[in-house]
Amino acid sequence: MRKKFVAGNWKMNTDAARARELAGQVVAGLAAQPAWAAKVQVAVCPPFPYLATVAEALKGSSVGLGAQNCHHEAAGAFTGEVSPVMAKDVGCHYVILGHSERRHKMGETDAQINQKAKAALQHGLTVILCVGETLAERQEQRTLKVLEEQFHGGCLGLGKDQMAKVVLAYEPVWAIGTGHNATPEQAQEAHAFLRSRAAAEFGPEVASRLQILYGGSLVPDNAPQLLAQPDVDGGLIGGASLDAGKFLKIIEAGAR
Ligand code: PGA
Repeated sequence: MRKKFVAGNWKMNTDAARARELAGQVVAGLAAQPAWAAKVQVAVCPPFPYLATVAEALKGSSVGLGAQNCHHEAAGAFTGEVSPVMAKDVGCHYVILGHSERRHKMGETDAQINQKAKAALQHGLTVILCVGETLAERQEQRTLKVLEEQFHGGCLGLGKDQMAKVVLAYEPVWAIGTGHNATPEQAQEAHAFLRSRAAAEFGPEVASRLQILYGGSLVPDNAPQLLAQPDVDGGLIGGASLDAGKFLKIIEAGAR
């Protein structure tokens, strides 16, 4: 049985005070509902400058900390970058890699994402690897091809043991921040396909354990249906994760 996993991607939002407050609200909300915490793995991914602040606010709780990106080198002359070793050092357990905003706004390629994934895993982080098609790719019936390429490219050269520390996030680009979520059927189709690719590349055991999150306008209203799909193991939440009440409602839906 795969555990449900709900992660908040705060993107480039909050300030130090708000980050501390939001993390505190999530911790308090979960502490009040131990059954949710038992059933759902929860993480928040604040911007780099607030990782230490949020790490402090999460101390003693079951809420994990994640970074939103990292470099593929451990240290060195890479001005403006943050290494996986630093993310780990400041208390991160997770790192989001290959988010569509990094692929499409920052030009990250599958090869770069793969390098980062290898480095993050080597330094003990769990990777939340995002994949997803654009609207044009969906309209051209290329969704599954794009998912296959991004999955293959992102996980290239990883061992089965490393795949145990990879979480996938299916995030259709057209659904991110748009209010247009994928339907439960569209999500299920993509997730089942990704699981079949994982089985083909890494074997059935890895595939059956692989958590595959859905992301893209996931909100309390659509969470029960989306999270009830057999291959949807949780959510990567953007906008709604900035409101603790909404984020907790999504966790509640995951606990059902
Ligand atoms: P959204 O973002 O929930 O605001 O659509 C999801 C994401 O980008 O991870």
